Parts: sequence; C-alpha cells; structure tokens
Amino acid sequence: MDGAVAIVLAAGSGERLGQDRPKAFVELAGRPLLAHAAGAALTCPEISLVVVAAPPGGEDLAHAMVESLGAHAVVTGGVTRRASVLAALRAVPADAAAIVCHDAARPFARAGLFARVLAALEGADGVVPVVPVPDTVKRVDGDVVLGTEPREGLVLAQTPQAFLAPALREAHERAERDGDEMTDDAAALERAGFRVRTVPGDPGNFKITTPEDLARAGTIALELARG
Ligand code: CTP
Ligand code: MG
Repeated sequence: MDGAVAIVLAAGSGERLGQDRPKAFVELAGRPLLAHAAGAALTCPEISLVVVAAPPGGEDLAHAMVESLGAHAVVTGGVTRRASVLAALRAVPADAAAIVCHDAARPFARAGLFARVLAALEGADGVVPVVPVPDTVKRVDGDVVLGTEPREGLVLAQTPQAFLAPALREAHERAERDGDEMTDDAAALERAGFRVRTVPGDPGNFKITTPEDLARAGTIALELARG
C-alpha cells in the first residue's frame, strides 16, 4: 500500500527509564531514540510522511531530530498515549489510506517490518507484529500465585502496527468517548470490533522501558555498528 503515513509516538515522559529528559530524546549510539524510530519508518518506501507526537515543550527539539530524515510533521502529544495518537491523527492528511503507528521506544524496528505490516493490510483493518511468549506466565495477587496461564495462544505485541486509516480513526474516537485507555492501537480496534491480524514480529525489536533495557540496547547497537 503506497502513500502510507507513520505516526511516531514520542510524547511519553519515560518515568520508568528515569532519565533527565523524555525517553524519546534519550540517545542510543549517538542518536535519539526518536531519530532511530522515525528514520526506520522513512526508510520504508511505502511511507511518505512521518507525524511525530512530541512531549509538550519538546516540539522544536523533536523537529530538529527528524528534520534531515524526510517528510515530517510534529504535533504536541497528550497526557495519555491515546491522546497523543488522536493529536497525531489530526495532522495525517485526510486522503492517507493506511497509517502505521510506532513507538519511539522501539529503536530496532527495521524498514522491512514496516513494509511487512503494511503488506498484510489486505483483508484486515489492522496488523500487529507478534513474537512468542518465552516464559511461563503466572497470575498472581501480590506474591501469592493464583495460577499458571496456558501459553498456547498467547503472543507479545510489538509496533509498528498498520491500520486502514478510517478504522484507526473510528476506533480511537470511540475509545476517547468511552474513556478507554490502552497500551497499543490494535486494542482500540479489537474493542471496536474491527479485524486485527498478526504477522511475525522481530525478537530484536524490543521496547526500551527500564535502564536495563537501555544498557542492553547500547551493547546491541555497538555490535550492529561493528557489523
Ligand atoms: N507515549 C506518548 N504519549 C503519552 C505516553 C506515551 O506518545 N502520553 C509514547 C511514548 O513516548 C512511547 C510509547 O508511547 O514511545 C510507549 O509508551 P511507554 O513505553 O510507556 O513510554 P513512556 O510512557 O514514556 O514511559 P513510562 O510509562 O515509563 O513513563
Ligand atoms: Mg507509559
């Protein structure tokens, strides 16, 4: 699907990472996470524009970080991830057929993964890249184990996620009306009854949440740079 638009969610504060700046502005291998994420999106030939949801007050910095990468727009993000997506959606041209939502917190997503989720939009309203759950999953109450969840049929969802633009808009508008919050966009479509499919994700495309994740990412980025 040509002429797709990518939304890069970069407006979070990065509380769990605990740095002196928003997570998307933290550097990995000499470049901010936002530049890694937006750069991968713009390297995908099907994507013609990136809309960045920036932290309030960080709009100019975000603009400077993506300026050299290609066509982009920067909007002020919201208090919640859903609010940030809605703000970005208002800057997506009305004639865009497909929208890819990607978290700036995933710097290792490759252009090929953007292309894969977009290609799988034939016959679906939304496409999520997933990886298997490697560990045994327990349900707990505090430190008391209530049971073990069967792992069959469980997967971990990543971004980038691709959507037909009208479905993404309708699902998020409905979520806002209902006051629903979610940690990914596919969840909004699932709740609204749209067809969401999976494609294989990439185990290397992990999300940076904690200082340990950032340290691991630094080691991997060094290895990748060495070839
Ligand atoms: N995000 C956003 N707007 C928000 C909250 C989150 O655009 N109001 C984005 C983040 O910038 C991130 C992605 O959504 O790229 C996934 O969120 P998460 O990993 O939770 O990042 P933060 O919310 O920044 O981190 P934390 O929850 O630790 O504060
Ligand atoms: Mg968060």
